[in-house]
Amino acid sequence: MATLLTTLLLAVPMVLGAAVAKPEQIRSDQDPVFHYYLQAYPKNASIVALGPAASSEYFNIGGTIQSTNTSMYINIGSDSTSYKTLTFGKTATTTGWGLEGDTIITTTSSSYGRQLNFVACELDSQYWQVYFQTGSATPSGGTCSNYQSLHLPCLC
Ligand SMILES: *[C@@H]1O[C@H](CO)[C@@H](O)[C@H](O)[C@H]1NC(C)=O
Ligand SMILES: *[C@@H]1O[C@H](CO)[C@@H](O)[C@H](O)[C@H]1NC(C)=O
Repeated sequence: MATLLTTLLLAVPMVLGAAVAKPEQIRSDQDPVFHYYLQAYPKNASIVALGPAASSEYFNIGGTIQSTNTSMYINIGSDSTSYKTLTFGKTATTTGWGLEGDTIITTTSSSYGRQLNFVACELDSQYWQVYFQTGSATPSGGTCSNYQSLHLPCLC
């Protein structure tokens, strides 16, 4: 009996632990940013960018998205356009992030509803700036790829 109880007590945290995403890399899965990884832009650390795997940051995801490398949170801007600027900030102003399988979403109960689209716009030969997309408009003047989604590398 004591053995069974011990087994149960040990098993519960493991089950709970499995439900919480550990620090994860986040990457895009479609050209022109196939397997680019989420991270701060080296030339302006408040810009949320997709870039090389070698400089990838790791994130805790659940309500907020926080980099475990820099402790900064990914927040959605209040742009009037359908695409919204994402920035890294010291405090979390966006609390509606979630995961649907391996896919980064804003949750149904968030002020954006369930959304999973992003826009990536080229910053230079290695980095693309990421915007959150609530409709179809894209920033003008640059090379942008609409309807990108962001994913964990695996569900593992
Ligand atoms: C860095 O990027 C942020 C977010 O796009 C912008 O508001 C800020 O002006 C930029 N800073 C510089 C020095 O360019
Ligand atoms: C971020 O943290 C992870 C895990 O500690 C580490 O492997 C990775 O090199 C770090 N990335 C950067 C850009 O420092």
